[in-house]
Amino acid sequence: MNNNSEAKRQTLETNGNSENKENPNQKPSETERDGPLFKFFTDALKDVLYAEKHILEALPKMQKAATTHELQEAFEDHYLLTQKHISRLERVFKLIGEEPEEKKCEAIIGIVKEGESVIENTEEGSMTRDAALIIAAQKVEHYEIATYGGLAALAETLELYEASDLLHTTLQEEEETDEDLTDIAESFINFAAKDDEEEDDNKDDALGFW
Ligand SMILES: [Fe+2]
Repeated sequence: MNNNSEAKRQTLETNGNSENKENPNQKPSETERDGPLFKFFTDALKDVLYAEKHILEALPKMQKAATTHELQEAFEDHYLLTQKHISRLERVFKLIGEEPEEKKCEAIIGIVKEGESVIENTEEGSMTRDAALIIAAQKVEHYEIATYGGLAALAETLELYEASDLLHTTLQEEEETDEDLTDIAESFINFAAKDDEEEDDNKDDALGFW
């Protein structure tokens, strides 16, 4: 529970003017369910459920393509977290009394496609490939961070506090994944990838000589 939602809940309980006073996590009423904001919220949840499942499919390919053990492990951790995010989203759907349907998300399809093109355009076993795969994975993370941040805030506005807490937890995990990827890139992969270039330059020099 974050402080904000706790404070808001306490205010509602003190004022005694909320429908959700007895049970702050009750399902939205029929009137609330018909509102455009609730409809948008559930649509966006369906969109991110599709996105998480699409990411889950792509991660093993990225893991297999990675050069270093560190990045392979990071993708494996990300895979396990993504499974957790999917079941957490299913809990959110249950909490608000909606079916966990998926809605095709063109944005994530594009971002994942770009990640796959990294594999085609970089040399197998090179550090440049890992540097590029990290950037591709961070684009996915930033998409998810924007989405979960917005959804957690909307859930709070709709007084769906338990749903908001679950979405906040996922948001934090996405932020941690993003930071871990930055750490791997900055600790050694980017520097090692610079050596890839130098080796290529040497190769070019050698070819030039002949
Ligand atoms: Fe996720």
